[in-house]
Amino acid sequence: MNVTESCIFSAALLASSALAGLPALAQGAQRVDVLHWWTSGGEAAALNVLKQNLNGEGVVWQDVPVAGGGGEQAMTVLRARVTSGNPPTASQMLGFDIQDWAEQGVLADLNAIATKENWDKNIPAALQQFSKYKGTWVAAPVNLHSTNWIWINKKVFDDLGLKPPQNWDEFIAALDKVKASGKTALAHGGQPWQDATIFDSVVIATGGPDFYKKALIDLDPEALGSDTMKKVFERMIQLRKYVDNNFSGRDWNLASAMVIRGDAAVQIMGDWAKGEFVNAGKKPGTDFICTRFPGTQGVVTFNTDQFAMFKVGADRQAAQQKMAMAIEDPGFQSSFNVVKGSAPARTDVSDAAFDDCGKKAIADVKEAVAKGTLLGSLAHGHAARAAVKNAMYDVITAVFNGDYAPDQGVKELVTAVAGAKQ
Ligand code: BGC
Repeated sequence: MNVTESCIFSAALLASSALAGLPALAQGAQRVDVLHWWTSGGEAAALNVLKQNLNGEGVVWQDVPVAGGGGEQAMTVLRARVTSGNPPTASQMLGFDIQDWAEQGVLADLNAIATKENWDKNIPAALQQFSKYKGTWVAAPVNLHSTNWIWINKKVFDDLGLKPPQNWDEFIAALDKVKASGKTALAHGGQPWQDATIFDSVVIATGGPDFYKKALIDLDPEALGSDTMKKVFERMIQLRKYVDNNFSGRDWNLASAMVIRGDAAVQIMGDWAKGEFVNAGKKPGTDFICTRFPGTQGVVTFNTDQFAMFKVGADRQAAQQKMAMAIEDPGFQSSFNVVKGSAPARTDVSDAAFDDCGKKAIADVKEAVAKGTLLGSLAHGHAARAAVKNAMYDVITAVFNGDYAPDQGVKELVTAVAGAKQ
């Protein structure tokens, strides 16, 4: 058995033992089993909103959590379950992965609910391109996250007389000042998806939205191998200098905790980080500051968590449909996303219940839609399919860790993408 096979084998064991432990259902009760990677404090708090909502509808929630930000491990477990003929009712899923699963013919048809509930009108086209496969709704989008944010400990900045940076030079000057004070300037976890999350922002800040689109969405070899990309890599290496030495393998929420405690000044992370701050009782504007990654204002690199629904037996379909309906309920979209840190997946949800960061997230999305600058995040599977994304992860992480100089990095990037595209 090779490493991948043994990983899938243990995932299948885990998945089947999780099922073996299911509580017996009362006569007539309905159940959804849901695979996801929302295991941090803030994520679990948000998921609870959905669980409780469904419990209220008489649906029992069978939790299948698979830890690991970005969802790579969760997707391995999912593959094992589907391959062994035991798909979950629904799985959290990102971007192009939904299209890949739909292509396999294993996802359910949600068109009847979508038509009844007007999803076509209220869910933005940028999200629909992932939720629909050849005109059929196969997933229910739950939120709209974005990756180009920084999260600042306000006291650390205030004590050093720093203001939220607006451009690259101000950002570097602020990080220098924090580093000189003896604190960790950048809280970061060295996992490929986290390195790539920084990369999303640095590409926008360095080359602008058109360059981002050309390089990461259109996968244009010239853009990938350009001097602009070389500069992106120089900047990635520059940022690495502000990270502490214990960053390798650190989970993203532990990096958030460093900023929450004031041990570090800044985290570059998607707005799920806000869920951690709020879950720790922290307030935006008072304890922490959310602002767009310096130099990316006006652009939103988004990822949307969707629950892809699998083809299941007739006995499980009613609960599945209730789940899909519950997710798109505007009241639920508000209460869930207030806790999760994301903007709603629907455009008809009021921002009244959201804090200032949430209101900004919603307004920024509106602005980006109008300007054509709402762009899929590479790091979270909304710019390119998994094979290309993973090939890019390898190069980005190697550059960040100093294994490739920028010159070599761009060459490796062009070769990696060309190989993965085939
Ligand atoms: C998901 C978020 C999640 C984050 C960290 C992202 O890929 O879209 O919902 O909070 O990973 O786990």
